[in-house]
Amino acid sequence: METKIFTPAEIPAAAAVINQENLVAFPTETVYGLGADATNVAAVEKVYAAKGRPSDNPLIVHVADQATVRQYAKEITPAVQKLMDTFWPGPLTIILPLKKDALAPQVTGGLQTAAFRNPNQEATLDLIRTAGVPLVGPSANTSGKPSPTLAEHVYHDLNGKIAGILDAGPTDFGVESTVIDMSTDHPAILRPGAVTRSELETVIGPVEDQLHHVNQAEVPKAPGMKYTHYSPAADVQIVDPELDWGTVIAWCRQQDAQIGILAPEMTVKRYKWPRNVVTYSLGTNVQSASHLLFAGLRTFDLDDSFATILVQGFATTGLGEAYMNRLNKAAGQHHFGDTATN
Ligand code: TXA
Ligand code: MG
Repeated sequence: METKIFTPAEIPAAAAVINQENLVAFPTETVYGLGADATNVAAVEKVYAAKGRPSDNPLIVHVADQATVRQYAKEITPAVQKLMDTFWPGPLTIILPLKKDALAPQVTGGLQTAAFRNPNQEATLDLIRTAGVPLVGPSANTSGKPSPTLAEHVYHDLNGKIAGILDAGPTDFGVESTVIDMSTDHPAILRPGAVTRSELETVIGPVEDQLHHVNQAEVPKAPGMKYTHYSPAADVQIVDPELDWGTVIAWCRQQDAQIGILAPEMTVKRYKWPRNVVTYSLGTNVQSASHLLFAGLRTFDLDDSFATILVQGFATTGLGEAYMNRLNKAAGQHHFGDTATN
């Protein structure tokens, strides 16, 4: 099967593919998702097969409006209503308790809750409305690869495995949505993302951290957290914000192998880089860095000549929390200067 690229003008054809139980990847403001009819078990099963994703890892249900959420959720509390009114459409995924058997166990991973998200992407909202069903949508990468921020990334990973890709250009944020658990009395962030903790707390008051939230007696709250993510084959190392790039460059000079560097524009321009180094600009700030992180990692990962990728770290405040969460996963917590090798 050759994967077909749909333009936003071809949404009716893309929706027809969804209605025929097949997969169409779609853009969102965060990353591209792998879309299937959330109400059709056969279609949902194809998502796991195409991604090579473990089937106990539940999927996000993408909706075009709040009314669809009300159809499935057991209760919309005032706090949940405030979150939807403030942040939707936008990069916030909300976990809610479900009415009995409202969604298939293939969607929820067998949990009594489900993740809902109303993406801020006109083409995709149009796709959902035209198909007439909510769409499940994990990130449209092969499991273990960085999430796709361009249709080309999706094509690279999934060509021949899915029916189509709706191409609406690059995504905005580049890191996935914030996941907040609203299924208990204690709101908790399960995954930091484009909506920051302080933005959430302004609207609903204190929000717990997933790590503090899960105690011994509980099932892990975000099943996805236990899987490895975003791991290029190269050795990825974080360059801490306080570290001087001059030290890094001195180390690079002593290496024979090719080194990829993801750093802010200013850093890229300031230095004369050794010949074995290829630089990739992360732009001017943590916003642009989040937007470009996955694309940059992919650039070096596609070319196996890079043994090491060094990436600028940022302070973990605001959007920096989501950026560092993804970078830590890609780097397996490896910081430049941590080991005897550098
Ligand atoms: O920005 C995004 O959220 C992207 C775009 C495509 O919408 N989607 C995305 O989906 O990142 P995925 O499947 O890669 O990540 C969903 C996360 C996983 O960690 C999953 O375990 C968690 O949400 N999740 C889904 N349903 C859940 C539930 N009922 N309870 C707890 N965690 C849940
Ligand atoms: Mg993912």
